[in-house]
Amino acid sequence: MDSAIIRITERPRPPLPEELQLRFSERAVKELEAIITHYPDRKSAMLPALWIAQREYGGHLTPEAIAEVAYRLGRSYAEVEGVATFYTMYNKTPVGKYMLEVCTNLTCMLCGGYRILEYLQQKLGIQLGETTPDGMFTLTEVECLNNCGDAPVMQVGDIYCRRLTPEKIDALLEELRQREEHTVVQLADAEVQLHLSEAEREAIQNS
Ligand code: FES
Repeated sequence: MDSAIIRITERPRPPLPEELQLRFSERAVKELEAIITHYPDRKSAMLPALWIAQREYGGHLTPEAIAEVAYRLGRSYAEVEGVATFYTMYNKTPVGKYMLEVCTNLTCMLCGGYRILEYLQQKLGIQLGETTPDGMFTLTEVECLNNCGDAPVMQVGDIYCRRLTPEKIDALLEELRQREEHTVVQLADAEVQLHLSEAEREAIQNS
């Protein structure tokens, strides 16, 4: 019988209370406080608070970023860490400029999702979870992207790439290499803006 391989990743040590250093910019604090007014309590703003933290900490949530969100929302570190580690859109390790998120759920798997994944691994010379040496691409595997009718599918930031073929991937990677925008940080910023009203956005920009 094949023995199952279980990978246990080491949990980063949370900072001690006396080690906590608040790094949110003035603008980020204003954004967070404005967003909190849209919710019944501070805890409910945890997802947008994590987006802000992801942007403020350069694209991924370090233990310090999680500790800062916990402090600002008045929650425990474990509670915020539990939310941050549940969702794949929050990065827990440094990532490249573009996240290539390949769906390998049932429909995509049947339509060649794993072949797409292998093609990307060969093309980029990296394995799942790794980033190319030039810092451009991080390759990940995700659950259903809700585009099963166009399988196999991959998400790159806010772009959905459907009915993938090696030729389409080649063209997409080339196009992404030429682009300036759509970094992970800019995407986190766009996500934060969605939670603010136009008046709040203007007030924060002009303050
Ligand atoms: S299974 Fe891939 S989009 Fe649904």
